Amino acid sequence: MSKSDSTLAQVHARAGEAPVTLGLILGSGLGHIADMVEGEAFDYAELTGFPVSAVSGHSAKLVIGQLWGQRVAVFGGRAHYYERGRADAMRMPLELLKALGATRVILTNAAGSFRPDIPPGDLMLISDHINFSGLNPLIGEDTDDRFVNMTNAYDPEMRAGLKAAAKGENITLKSGVYSWYSGPSFETPAEINALKILGTDAVGMSTVPEVILARFLGLDAAAISVITNMAAGLGTEEISHSHTKNMAPIGAAKLEKILRRFIGG
Ligand code: HPA
Repeated sequence: MSKSDSTLAQVHARAGEAPVTLGLILGSGLGHIADMVEGEAFDYAELTGFPVSAVSGHSAKLVIGQLWGQRVAVFGGRAHYYERGRADAMRMPLELLKALGATRVILTNAAGSFRPDIPPGDLMLISDHINFSGLNPLIGEDTDDRFVNMTNAYDPEMRAGLKAAAKGENITLKSGVYSWYSGPSFETPAEINALKILGTDAVGMSTVPEVILARFLGLDAAAISVITNMAAGLGTEEISHSHTKNMAPIGAAKLEKILRRFIGG
């Protein structure tokens, strides 16, 4: 019996039992896509055991229904490690997604860029990650399934599909390595310098634990960063959460077009 079982019954009772094909997890300032789904919306707070995120800029609801021709589950906002110190904060929602029938998940986030050729307002397709936090959502898991193979964790086929969708929309979508920094404080310029030497292209406070959990659960995963700023010390803008929220909609417009083409096929 998994923690998501009673929540599954709750969701099925209102949204019906038809399986979803895909899950979409939306990052800071990107929640409006949840409002495009024609279906049932659940406030996280009404779902038993669901981790409620209180981060401003996140819409805190799960919507299940039709989006661009597919039956999907869209998570408007996520719980983060930095909220309660739990790296497995998103385990239950991902278990629920799997139980709803999804085989694939697309994660989005806001991130700081290291690359002048991927400036604020642009998107970056995550090709691989560096777990700079040293934390792992599977610590405490006591089955052999915990030894997850993280080679090709970002599904090559989904990545190719997202690239093709971007190309079809004439949107530049470069690929790069995302590093997870715990937050909630932003990084220091010295940390950014260290991450750069390690091979980072963008940094953010989410996604890595979720991709580890998705792979653990057997879900194919892909992720796109919406670049809201140059990482600390690499740009001139003042780094802040309100800046993230103000900038996210610029990239979100491109993200929406790519997802529409990818999901709509
Ligand atoms: N660092 C970490 N997380 C972020 C950033 C950043 O520069 N920008 C948006 N989210």
